[in-house]
Amino acid sequence: MNYEQLIQQIDKERMPQHIAIIMDGNGRWADEHKTKRVNGHKEGVKAVRRIVETAVEAGLKYLTVYAFSTENWRRTKQEVNYLLKLIMDSLTKEIEDLNYNNVNIRFIGSKEELEKSYNKKVIETCKKSWKNDGLHLNVAMNYGGRRELIDAFKKMADDLKAGKISKEKINDEMIGNYLYTAYMPDPDLIIRTSGEERLSNFLIWQSAYSEFWFTNTLWPDFSREEFIQSILDFQNRKRRFGSR
Ligand code: FPP
Repeated sequence: MNYEQLIQQIDKERMPQHIAIIMDGNGRWADEHKTKRVNGHKEGVKAVRRIVETAVEAGLKYLTVYAFSTENWRRTKQEVNYLLKLIMDSLTKEIEDLNYNNVNIRFIGSKEELEKSYNKKVIETCKKSWKNDGLHLNVAMNYGGRRELIDAFKKMADDLKAGKISKEKINDEMIGNYLYTAYMPDPDLIIRTSGEERLSNFLIWQSAYSEFWFTNTLWPDFSREEFIQSILDFQNRKRRFGSR
């Protein structure tokens, strides 16, 4: 089936609200093509563009992409610098267009180590885009699920002390609203490319009931068709949320 036919197969009534992607395999793609790792990341950016466009065409409401994790700082300084610059440069280039296309863009993750990396234009356009009601695109930057929980618990502890919240009222929903993803639906579907099958500290609270979809395809090769296929497979699954 070609792309147009595949996209027609989507049941609009049962569209996942939120898809999150662990984009893995840029390095291996570069190895396979006998080129430098940075070229794998460059191709990875093209795949992000392709998948964002497809998400808009499919009418998805929320898409979260794991661009840079709190663990990625362990890579060589050269690769870290390259990656951060590549991500910011790509966003600088694309962000006006995303805003024009009604995309609502947010960064999720810890801002702490990144102050200097964020470029002014990106931040300004991001804020402008918060009025948009099309695709909500979350770029996870310096993101770690445990770090997110630590940040949330610290904020909750402050609010408890200040009497803004009471211990009795703490529940799933309240905790969720202290996370970087506050007031967003949890991911219905989490995709990971490159044959690895683990969560790697991604959305650990929010993924309690997510469906997982794994593929051996390396991120730079991840196609529009495969993305639509993941949605179709999701629609064939029976979600029970703990019930029988
Ligand atoms: C994994 O490949 C990918 C990353 C570390 C993320 C890099 C992200 C991009 C290039 C996309 C940029 C995103 C935006 C929003 C513009 P890897 O290096 O872990 O691959 P390997 O496991 O094969 O070594």
